[in-house]
Amino acid sequence: MAKTEFKKVTTHTLHEMKMRGEKISMLTAYDFSFAKIIDDAQIDVILVGDSASNVMAGHISTLPITLDQMIYHAQSVIRAIDRALVVVDLPFGSYQGDSKEALKSAIRIMKESGAHAIKLEGGAEVIESVKRILSAGIPVMGHLGLTPQSIFKFGTYTVRAKEEAEANKLRTDAKLLEEAGCFGIVLEKIPADLAKEVTDSLNIPVIGIGAGAGVDGQVLVLHDLLGITKEFNPRFLRRYLNLYDSVKGAVENYIKDVKSQDFPNDKEQY
Ligand code: KIV
Repeated sequence: MAKTEFKKVTTHTLHEMKMRGEKISMLTAYDFSFAKIIDDAQIDVILVGDSASNVMAGHISTLPITLDQMIYHAQSVIRAIDRALVVVDLPFGSYQGDSKEALKSAIRIMKESGAHAIKLEGGAEVIESVKRILSAGIPVMGHLGLTPQSIFKFGTYTVRAKEEAEANKLRTDAKLLEEAGCFGIVLEKIPADLAKEVTDSLNIPVIGIGAGAGVDGQVLVLHDLLGITKEFNPRFLRRYLNLYDSVKGAVENYIKDVKSQDFPNDKEQY
């Protein structure tokens, strides 16, 4: 059967979508099988997020995941996709403080995985890294608001930029990232009014997670949307499945069938 022809999503496509007011859909994926499903479903952007540190590796934060591990996840995702734009997070420690190191990290991701773009967290503090990566022709996505790599500085996962000083810094950082040449920005867990204001003030697409409806698109962690993670229940999360219970139930049934010798039956053997 002929493979369906899709137009591949590019950074340019995302810009056009913002211009015509079409919302952008984005989800995380870290492995071949899930990436294939969500690409077939025609997700616009796949983020190989450093949330892999939490949902794939079981760490309590995104800090421990390494550049090699991010590249491994990105390679698995890239093998699966036909259509989506694949953005990969630069992990903690691979870009802060040294823009040459940042460029090296970004080049490794692009070269070794075949990804289409990278994402990094922060504004003014990382602007030299952003500029240097962009100068090599690598598309960069920013990430402001609740930036999980700074969780130990924040001390809490609550909503960011509620105070005017932090909101002002976010406005300035968003402009800086746009002026530097980023193709988009993720805004995480900030007041909806502020997210809308920033979105309206920029020409590049703004993707929100816990940032309300006034942004250009939405991103969620796939494992949260599918109900694989049970304990994580922020207000912004909409679960579309309860996969934890479905998978657990299926495995319990399998165990029961093995123990009772119901599986395999006559038709399930050679
Ligand atoms: O790593 C991640 O999953 C992310 C999203 C929450 C935006 O950065």
